Amino acid sequence: MKVFKRKNAVAKEIKALKAANKTIGLVPTMGALHEGHLSLVENGLANNDVVFISIFVNPTQFNNKSDLTKYPRTLQKDIDLLSDASNNIYVFAPSVEDVYDKNVNAIKFDFDGLENEMEGEFREGHFDGVGTIVKQLLEIVQPDNAYFGEKDFQQLQIIRKLVDKFHIPVNIVGCKIHREPSGLAMSSRNMRLSPDHMLAAPFIYKTLLSAKKKFGTKSANKVTEWVKKQFNGHKFLKLEYFKIADVKTLREVKRKSNKKKYRAFIAVYADEVRLIDNIALN
Ligand code: PAJ
Repeated sequence: MKVFKRKNAVAKEIKALKAANKTIGLVPTMGALHEGHLSLVENGLANNDVVFISIFVNPTQFNNKSDLTKYPRTLQKDIDLLSDASNNIYVFAPSVEDVYDKNVNAIKFDFDGLENEMEGEFREGHFDGVGTIVKQLLEIVQPDNAYFGEKDFQQLQIIRKLVDKFHIPVNIVGCKIHREPSGLAMSSRNMRLSPDHMLAAPFIYKTLLSAKKKFGTKSANKVTEWVKKQFNGHKFLKLEYFKIADVKTLREVKRKSNKKKYRAFIAVYADEVRLIDNIALN
């Protein structure tokens, strides 16, 4: 395993790998790695000669200062974990300066409205920050394949749009959500949950499963009202949004059509920890 701290060093390595006709996978992360991240890495290792994993807590995608400060940073532990996994793993863990120089600002993107729904509505500028870092990573690493989790389904669709709009020659691979045995979607933020909130949090996925069942016979509106009721007065969880949306446009469904694919999206506060999840409905 190799660890790179600077993008210039990565660019040099990429040149050598391309000259040797090696295929390259990229897994962008913000670290505090868990099995969800590792499933993306495994997918990458199975389909490429080498896999670059970036570990970078990207400041421009945080709309909330305290969330950025409290975001877990466990670089050495992450590197140890990856060094057990394979020799074909290259870690890129740059500093903020290396990525942004002195201009720690996001580019403004137009993702045809995908950026204004759900996470975009509640985290202003979030997807400009995500787009800025992912575009840069794709340009430096020039991967054949890049791996993103369905855990952040809106992000995955926005990355597909980014690649399309900028004609970036990479195959974007969406990977399924990894969950704890309790059903709770794995997340780096889970380690910030108090014991009470950790016990309460699987309720989120349980509710998504019930919502999926109800969506078979009820309107999107009825299901949404039902979900909101489940969280009303909940002792440990506060619902921020629940939406049933078309997977392509990410717009909220008004009337169901059996020609379209839908997903339910949810964001919940467990005390001050913000958790998101989603589920395919049809
Ligand atoms: P991060 O939250 O660290 O996630 C890195 C990648 O792992 C994302 O593609 C995310 O969807 C995926 N992932 C996280 N939890 C998962 C789970 N339980 N199952 C499957 N995949 C999971 O997403 C980001 O970082 C950042 O926005 C980033 C793309 C790196 C840009 O900064």
